[in-house]
Amino acid sequence: MDAVEARYDGVAAAYDTWVGEGSVLADLTFEELVGGVEGQQVCSVACGQGREARYLAAQGAVVTGVDLSENLLALARRHEEAEPIGVSYLQGDAQTLEGLASGSFDGAVCYLALMDIPSLDGVLQSVARILRPGGWFVFSITHPCFKTPATGDLVDHTNKSVRRTVGRYFAEGYWDGPGLYNDALPIGAYHRMLSTYVDALTRAGLVIDQMREPPRDHAPVWQEVPQLLYVRCHRGESRPL
Ligand SMILES: C[S@@+](CC[C@H](N)C(=O)[O-])C[C@H]1O[C@@H](n2cnc3c(N)ncnc32)[C@H](O)[C@@H]1O
Repeated sequence: MDAVEARYDGVAAAYDTWVGEGSVLADLTFEELVGGVEGQQVCSVACGQGREARYLAAQGAVVTGVDLSENLLALARRHEEAEPIGVSYLQGDAQTLEGLASGSFDGAVCYLALMDIPSLDGVLQSVARILRPGGWFVFSITHPCFKTPATGDLVDHTNKSVRRTVGRYFAEGYWDGPGLYNDALPIGAYHRMLSTYVDALTRAGLVIDQMREPPRDHAPVWQEVPQLLYVRCHRGESRPL
């Protein structure tokens, strides 16, 4: 397993401000894929300051949030103290989910974080381990086909439409880019090909049910190609506990 570094510890406050203090998740695609969760045990993997954990708890789930960054977890706990909604937070590595019992969750989510974690197999095998047979897993990632180690936007001078240029798709591994939010946030990430995600899901015994690639309206280019990829899968019955 690769060494584990809590890269978000140093930028926790900036991250909290960026996603919005006390943020409520407002992501219809994610919400649709998750569906009803009332009374379910759900793990929020790499939960950060807890925005999706709070969304799930507000829908009636019993939520455990896990993250590597103590500083982001401190912010998550502060949100919980200010407005108690019953989320438990645990400091831990998503690559092992140590301390969480096998087969103990009805569902799990990982929101915009798989790209931050070195071992994809580690996370997916661990998620599959903590899910009960048939349990669901919803994740979102920056779209691996349109956010690669070399991307940019171009204006087409003929009709002024915006085009996305994509390079280095085959260059899997960690890459460092300019930081988001005035350089305050890490944007470096582990790039993987789409086929790598699908193969790792299969190895973990996670069966894909739905994929979504919605257009987004906060920049013209995301009306042309998808910024994010969402997947809902479930733990196949054949995976041994
Ligand atoms: C882009 S943030 C997303 C946080 C949260 N899901 C959200 O959407 O606000 C990526 C998160 O992954 C967490 N992370 C990175 N590596 C991790 C690991 N090995 N185990 C658990 N969390 C990890 C970071 O600490 C950070 O909170």
